This record gives sequence, C-alpha cells and structure tokens, in this order.
Amino acid sequence: VEIDWTLEAAEKGGFPHYMLKEIYEQPWVLENTLGGRLKEEEGDVELGLGLDPLAIDRIHVIACGTAAYAGWYGKYLLEALARIPTEWDVASEYRYRDPVVDERTLAIAISQSGETIDTLEGIREAKAKGARTLGVINAKGSSITREVEDVLYIHAGPEIGVASTKAYIAMLSAMAMLAIHFGRRRRILGKEEAQGLLKEMRKLPRLVEEVLEKRPLIAHLAEKYHQAQDFLFLGRHVQAPTAYEGALKLKEISYIHAEAYPAGEMKHGPIALIDEHLPVVVLATRGPLYEKTLSNIQEVRARGGKVIAIATEGDGEIGKLAQDVFPVPEVHPLLAPIVSVVPLQLLAYEIAVLLGRDVDQPRNLAKSVTVE
Ligand code: AGP
Repeated sequence: VEIDWTLEAAEKGGFPHYMLKEIYEQPWVLENTLGGRLKEEEGDVELGLGLDPLAIDRIHVIACGTAAYAGWYGKYLLEALARIPTEWDVASEYRYRDPVVDERTLAIAISQSGETIDTLEGIREAKAKGARTLGVINAKGSSITREVEDVLYIHAGPEIGVASTKAYIAMLSAMAMLAIHFGRRRRILGKEEAQGLLKEMRKLPRLVEEVLEKRPLIAHLAEKYHQAQDFLFLGRHVQAPTAYEGALKLKEISYIHAEAYPAGEMKHGPIALIDEHLPVVVLATRGPLYEKTLSNIQEVRARGGKVIAIATEGDGEIGKLAQDVFPVPEVHPLLAPIVSVVPLQLLAYEIAVLLGRDVDQPRNLAKSVTVE
C-alpha cells in the first residue's frame, strides 16, 4: 500500500481513503468483535445479554442497506444453528406491513450508526406490538441503543467511509455468535459442533489478512472490468447476502449499475441479461451448494458471459469455467461470507478509484439516513 505522508492523510493512517483504511482494519475489528466472547472450552459464547433465548419463539431482523444483508445472513445462521423461525426485512418495509408480533417475538435492529430513522421506527413498531428488542449496533449510546432492552455492540470502531465495510463483517460475526448463543441455550447446537465453529471463528482475522495480501490481484481485475456498464453478482444460501452486499458496494462508490440475485434465480429471467459485456461475479466457495453454483457458472458461460469467481483456494475445477478466479482461504461454509466479502469490497474500491470517484463521500449519499 503506497503511503501518503500529508497531515490530512495521517488522519487516515497513511491510507489514501478512509474506506481503504477501514478495509485494512478488518482483521483487528474481528479480533475486537469476537475478542473475549468466544469460549472454545465450553463450546459457547459469552455475550452479556440479559435476554433469555427460551422466552423467544421467533425472531424479526430489521435493518437497512448493508446492515439488512447482515440480517439476511443472520436469518440463515439462526435457523441453521438454533432452529428458531427468523424473518428479515428492510426496515422501510417492516414499518408498514403490520407485522405479526407477540411478546415471544424478538425484534433485532442491526445498525452501524444506530441513528437510521427507518430502523429506529421499525424497532419502535415491533416494541409497540409487544416484542422483546435487541440492538446489534456499532455507535455507542446512539438512538437505537436507547430504544431497545439489550444491546450487542459490534466494537468495529468509528466507521468514516460512507460505504460500510468493517462494520459489515463485525455485524456478520455478531449474528454468528448470536446464532451459537441461541443454539446452545435451546439445546439444538451440540458442544462439539459449537467448538468446531468457534475454532473456525478464531481463524477469521488471519484469513482476512491473507485476502488483503492479494490486493494486487483485485487491482488487476478492476483494471480489466472497470469500463463495464453493468455487473451481476450471484450467490446461494449464506453467499446470497454476500452477492447483494458486493453489488451495493460497487453501486455506491463507482456508480456502475450492479444487480445481485440468488444464483438459483438465474433461469427465472436474469439469464436474458447475459452477454459478453456483462461481468458476472459468482460466490463459488466450497459448501453444500457448490455443485449447484458450478452449474450456474456453466449457464452463464454457455451464453458468452464473463465470470469472475470467488472460489476456495486449491479449487482445481473452477478455473476451467471462470475467466477469472479470486481464491479465498477455506473456512466453515457458514462463515465463508465473512472472508468472501473482502475481495468484493476491494473490487468496488479499486474500480471507483480508477473511475476517479469520491470514494469516501460518494454523490447523493449520507453516512447515516436520519431523515425520512
Ligand atoms: C452501506 O455501505 C450504506 N452506507 C448504507 O446502505 C447503510 O448500510 C445503511 O444506510 C444502514 O446504515 P446503518 O447501519 O447505520 O443503520
């Protein structure tokens, strides 16, 4: 990373942009979020929450933008590890859909700023209907923390770049810990399985560091594809939210139109978009849906599409199908999004810089949407 020695840059730790500084802070953030909360010995997590998971029958996750994709991810983990029915909504929809809520519903608001008006009003709506409430929040003492009965802080530190990066992986990690917390108390998740997951979570800071070391490969991909007018991002299961987050990052800071879809939805329309001008980023890391995702890549290639695959290191198959492969270190499939989103953050960043965009303050955007 080139160091910029001006005073203004010093605020950014020598990085040219806050966003890049925050992307590079992510290994430290993961240490901070996970920190003393992982209890490998007991196969459990220590979150300091007052709420009793056994008093809850269902969960509603309410958030906006990047935080909403962390909510979607959280749904998959809470249902996989704790078998607790979990819905997620963008808060602007939740507020007005007259949700079915009772006193055994837990409404979770996820928010970096803790000031997003739609999320604040959404959690108020759930509370008014009798729900228990929890905040998964970064900013200490923010408005949402004063509305909820309990807060799980993500400890990502101040996030200055408008495009959220480090807060996102801190939210993902928090939702994974929450799923383990619920799974263990509801006697769904066994000690050994939990210990396996915790061992994998302990590796995350180092795995993200390994991805950051491969930034030159992302710079090469950005050079190759930065003139595209549109991008498509595809992923399945827990990697579907990753695809949506990758598309949002690119839209927000490069202003290139980018769309995300669950990969299985390709044949229901988006496949009509495929041609040689449309780069298709596919989350194709090892997991139960890997073969299905390979066939989606084949569908794209058969129609002349260009595939950029985010794949697991050592995958000998994917190179035969995708034009470009970005290898990420192997990790438990349920935790893969925490590592796989990092190349997508870097891709959006490098393309935006090549296009001369204002990376830290993109046009039309605010860091926190506090007004309707
Ligand atoms: C993400 O890069 C955007 N800045 C935006 O979508 C953001 O995630 C959303 O506005 C929610 O903000 P919050 O997490 O502070 O509630």
